[in-house]
Amino acid sequence: MIFRQLFEPLSSTYTYLLGDEDTGEALLIDPVIASMDRDLAEVHRLGLKLAYTLETHIHADHITAALEMKRTVGSRIAAPAYDRLSCTDIGIEEGKPFQVGGISLEPIHTPGHTDGHFAYLFCDRVFTGDALLIEGCGRTDFQNGDADALYRSVREKLFALPDETLVYPAHDYQQRFVSSIVQEKKRNPRLGGDRTLEEFRQIMANLNLPYPMFIDYAETGNRQCGVCPPDVPANLASYCRQTSESPQG
Ligand SMILES: [Fe+2]
Repeated sequence: MIFRQLFEPLSSTYTYLLGDEDTGEALLIDPVIASMDRDLAEVHRLGLKLAYTLETHIHADHITAALEMKRTVGSRIAAPAYDRLSCTDIGIEEGKPFQVGGISLEPIHTPGHTDGHFAYLFCDRVFTGDALLIEGCGRTDFQNGDADALYRSVREKLFALPDETLVYPAHDYQQRFVSSIVQEKKRNPRLGGDRTLEEFRQIMANLNLPYPMFIDYAETGNRQCGVCPPDVPANLASYCRQTSESPQG
């Protein structure tokens, strides 16, 4: 199995490349339109063919590359069925493994950051999207976010995975790359240790985060599997442009 963690610096997003050496098929989890050229070049450099793109949720901070990759290389679009996007080829559901070549992912419905959010378990690792970040979690104040639901998703579903399971989040803002379930159980200041639901509610209600600056464009664009809306203002135009510098994480 081929694995790469790719970083998109504008939105600090991690995109994950999984490749099956036997069939030559690859998938990209949460690809970003601004890093599309870099990501496709990496897939091809590894001698792979992009079979699928796969979303953890409808993103509010970047535009997915799913649709443009489908147009460019013929990949198919997989996303949570819960969101009922008409542009998806495969609707992901809990309990139904998602298979690409010899790679089998186990979808885990993890609502709370968004109601349709999914994490994906693959062998010794779990791709946690924005449900569980390294010593953090995604916000719960937009997109049908729900702190109670997120608390249950993380504590009852993700923390129920084996302790040594590696945690690969959709973002990190401090150049950290990977965590583990046991580390988050012990160290996550919002959800770890003996944090109660009431404490978590208070933490999430008092984050005082600014209005997400790209959400109105990203949600619209991502409900179409990755269309850059024509009215994106000049100060946000870089979100729809290919980034020149985009280091690999
Ligand atoms: Fe998100």
